[in-house]
Amino acid sequence: MVVPALDPVEIVIFGASGDLTRRKLLPALFHLFIGDLMPEDFGVVGYARTEMSDEAFREMALEAVREYARCDVDGETWGAFARRLHYVTGEFTEEGAFARLRGRLDHLDEEHGTDGRRRLYYCGTPPVAYADIVRRLGEEGMAPGSRIVVEKPFGRDLETARDLNRILHESFDEEQIYRIDHYLGKETVQNILAFRFANSIIEPLWNRRYVDHVQLTVAEDEGIEGRGAFYEATGAMRDMVQAHLFQVLTFLAMEPPSAFEPEPLRDEKMKVLRSMRPVDPSAVVRGQYEGYREEEGVDPASEMETYATLRVEIDNWRWAGVPFFLRTGKRMAEKRAEATIQFKEPPHLVFERAGIDADPNRLTLTIQPDEGISLSFMAQGPGVGMSLVPASLEFDYASAFDTELVEAYEVLLLEAMRGDRTLFLRADIVERAWELLEPVLEAPSQVVPYEAGSWGPKDADDLIAPRNWFLA
Ligand code: BG6
Repeated sequence: MVVPALDPVEIVIFGASGDLTRRKLLPALFHLFIGDLMPEDFGVVGYARTEMSDEAFREMALEAVREYARCDVDGETWGAFARRLHYVTGEFTEEGAFARLRGRLDHLDEEHGTDGRRRLYYCGTPPVAYADIVRRLGEEGMAPGSRIVVEKPFGRDLETARDLNRILHESFDEEQIYRIDHYLGKETVQNILAFRFANSIIEPLWNRRYVDHVQLTVAEDEGIEGRGAFYEATGAMRDMVQAHLFQVLTFLAMEPPSAFEPEPLRDEKMKVLRSMRPVDPSAVVRGQYEGYREEEGVDPASEMETYATLRVEIDNWRWAGVPFFLRTGKRMAEKRAEATIQFKEPPHLVFERAGIDADPNRLTLTIQPDEGISLSFMAQGPGVGMSLVPASLEFDYASAFDTELVEAYEVLLLEAMRGDRTLFLRADIVERAWELLEPVLEAPSQVVPYEAGSWGPKDADDLIAPRNWFLA
């Protein structure tokens, strides 16, 4: 990748002592650093309530990078990176709390002789703190000329998302705001666009004339991993469907944008969401894995879903009558994310009289793991006489490119530093995604149990019938 030199930047991570910083942000920044993708001149300032010195923050960062980065950490490189890390202890709620942070940033600017470096604020705290952070930045006059990255979940329903957008817009212009959904940083999710729009043989088939239905599964084998309180307030619908699944869906369903640029791309995504009907609660299955209620921080009578399946329809010329089945859950049989497009049966079954069945063609885009694309088709079976056997054309990233995929957070941090919002969410897109879920958030159907380690509740089979789940 050819990346033009980046302007100097000071990255401020709010929630710097938390899980996201340790697992994702610090390892991503370190990878960018060793890959020579960071600006010549940059600094990272962690801000959180936990008391910590610069030294302690650097120690924490080293442990995090050792645990979560994909590379070895050598002393000299680490030293060069660690020198750029700083830490400020502080609250989010108290007025004037950011004066100290501003003082520290100004001081660092002076120290580096880089007055007026661009600042990139990263809201990586629990979502309840976002509004306070944004207000404090506004009060201290720290917004002009900066950029702000806001993590998901962006609000918890339409109203709270609108409130948060309003609060953001009081201090920041939309061009300064980077609402992040890390699924859009996954190379295999971007590959949906490459596959569709950089090839001429795909697009003519990508519509209701040829497609029977689409399945999108984002399954996880892990449970809630100690995040009981967060999950009780969030659930799969808010955590996964509103964000990752709807975003991947827009990539699958959108019209070709005129350019891979922020507004053309986001306009097309928005058109998909606008063409969707609000989700009908009777077309939803909410599941909860057995054992969830015994997890720490979970109400023993909890009705929160750890699994969701939805049938959604897109009312436009391309997709009228083609159901999209979206499915996600914790403690499912495996960690796997893939989209499958099932094509219609051939118009006339030539082999039917010989008693030979043909499976319909399927195109599977595997997002993770075993990233790749496969197209199933029927072939003449070996031997004398007509017989049909399923076969497939396979492309897999690992063997095709012999290189590791880049972590989503690296891609998105780099894009935010470059000032490219193409892969970030616009205010109207986030709000529309919440609006589509309003009916199921307001009147959720009963949650049904499913066995941990399974593909989810039986009710989801009924929802997709007479079709079947490909991953089951
Ligand atoms: C996060 C959710 O956004 O995505 C988590 O909050 C989930 O609950 C995670 O586990 C899944 O991301 P990935 O990249 O591991 O598929």
